[in-house]
Amino acid sequence: TERTLILVKPDGVKRGLTGQILARIEAKGYAIAKLQQLEATRELLAEHYAEHEGKPFYKPLVEFMLSGPVVAIVAEGQGVIPGFRSLAGTTDPTTAAPGTIRGDFGRDWGLKVQQNLVHGSDSVESAEREIGIWFGK
Ligand code: GTP
Ligand code: MG
Repeated sequence: TERTLILVKPDGVKRGLTGQILARIEAKGYAIAKLQQLEATRELLAEHYAEHEGKPFYKPLVEFMLSGPVVAIVAEGQGVIPGFRSLAGTTDPTTAAPGTIRGDFGRDWGLKVQQNLVHGSDSVESAEREIGIWFGK
C-alpha cells in the first residue's frame, strides 16, 4: 500500500498539537503504521533536506528542525501522499486554507523560516527515501 513520511515539526510538538494532527490523519481514514518522537541530527536533516541546500531558508530551516523533538510518522492508505499534503495545506501558513493543519494552527511568527507545523512527502520516490532516513531501511 501507498505510504508517506509525515513529520510533526518542533513548533507542532512544542505547542502540544501532535494529538490533534494525528487525529486528523486518522479521521481522514489513513492508518498510522509507525510513530516515533526523536531529536533530529544535522546529518539526518542534511539528507532529508538535500534538495533545499543552498537556498536562503536552508540554514534557518535546519536550525529550526534542531530546536526540539519532532514526531516522525509513517501513514498508509491509497492516495495518502497527496491526501496528507491536502490535509496539511500550502507551505505558507498565513495563506494556507482554513480547515487545513497549517491554515488552522499556523501563522507568521516573523522568523527567517516558515514554521509550518508539519512535513509530508511529495512523491512516492520522496516517501520511500524519507522513510529510510527517519526509520531505517
Ligand atoms: P514540507 O512538507 O515541509 O517539505 O513543506 P513543503 O513541501 O510545503 O515545502 P518545501 O519542501 O518547499 O520547503 C521545506 C520547508 O522549508 C517548508 O515547509 C518551510 O518550513 C521552509 N520554506 C520553504 N520555502 C520557504 C520560503 O520561501 N521562505 C521561508 N522562510 N521558508 C521556506
Ligand atoms: Mg517539501
